[in-house]
Amino acid sequence: MIDLPMPSVRTPAPTTGGLVDTFGRVARDLRVSLTDRCNLRCTYCMPEAGMPWLPKTTLLTDEELLRVIRVFVGLGIDQIRFTGGEPLLRPGLVGLVEQVAALTPRPRIALTTNGVGLARIAPALKAAGVDRVNISLDTIDREEFLALTRRDRLPAVEEGLAAAREAGLTPVKVNAVAMRGVNDESIPDLLAWCVDRGYELRFIEQMPLDADHAWTAESLVSREEILERLSARFALTALPSSARGSAPAELFLVDGGPATVGVIASVSTPFCADCDRVRLTADGQVRNCLFSEVESDLRTPLREGATDAELAGVIRGEMWRKLSGHHIGAADFHQPERSMSAIGG
Ligand code: 5AD
Ligand code: SF4
Repeated sequence: MIDLPMPSVRTPAPTTGGLVDTFGRVARDLRVSLTDRCNLRCTYCMPEAGMPWLPKTTLLTDEELLRVIRVFVGLGIDQIRFTGGEPLLRPGLVGLVEQVAALTPRPRIALTTNGVGLARIAPALKAAGVDRVNISLDTIDREEFLALTRRDRLPAVEEGLAAAREAGLTPVKVNAVAMRGVNDESIPDLLAWCVDRGYELRFIEQMPLDADHAWTAESLVSREEILERLSARFALTALPSSARGSAPAELFLVDGGPATVGVIASVSTPFCADCDRVRLTADGQVRNCLFSEVESDLRTPLREGATDAELAGVIRGEMWRKLSGHHIGAADFHQPERSMSAIGG
């Protein structure tokens, strides 16, 4: 597949309608990173130490964020997902959620969190308007959790999950990354644990977004291997693809259901052709793809008094140059400079 934008990219981006790109995709899902900081240090995301933090003055304030989100909603974005780093570390989170929930049309509001500290704040998030949460948890073995996240916080995450369920942030979805030699053998235990508690587990193939640049295609625990390991313990029945809607997870009934497990084969079967996402980094840069090597600066125009129409123009321009796909594993693939925690998952 040739990945150059079509010739139409030389024409300017449209000035009305939704957030389209030159491949006809329409962005509806905005992922907003609220901070690049985190209280865990997952090996597939962050280095053990020495992560260069974004300078404080470059972080968008709550007020700036709200303005940008309002502009995005005016451009057809109907889901806002708050991410990080770890979004619960952002002091103004609850207030921000409330204000986003008050926009018209009201976007759906989701949160991707590692679950640490969620126990305390889950009811307030629900009351403020969070519709759903994805909680990252890769293993329920404490030693493996420590090896993977470099922090001994498994009990806090377990409490966070339970609190999310109790607060009605349901369905509670769990995201897991399988890492060779760390948690790949215990993934059936994680599924059993989630099924018992009514959490919807989805495995995501590890993408080359780690700060250490240690990712290799050889060490990837693929969709196929994940399914093979799970099938040794459970009977998996593939659900028709209509069950997944625009979501990238392939879904399977576990032992006849009703529990399901999902696999997101972001590397081996990319879903770029159906991508409806756009990202805003904590320092106010618009990214059209996780793997993009360029971004558009919204912070500077925002701080220099740009109008909403001017901000919308920057966003439209960024979407217009979105490439067809990520090319992970190909010879021409370059890992983006920002690692996952500085982009927003
Ligand atoms: N590959 C796949 N998923 C990742 N995440 C973080 N880094 C990676 C990676 N390299 C996931 C986390 C979390 C979400 C923010 O992204 O597990 O679920
Ligand atoms: Fe933190 Fe999430 Fe990165 Fe883990 S994957 S270090 S929880 S931002």
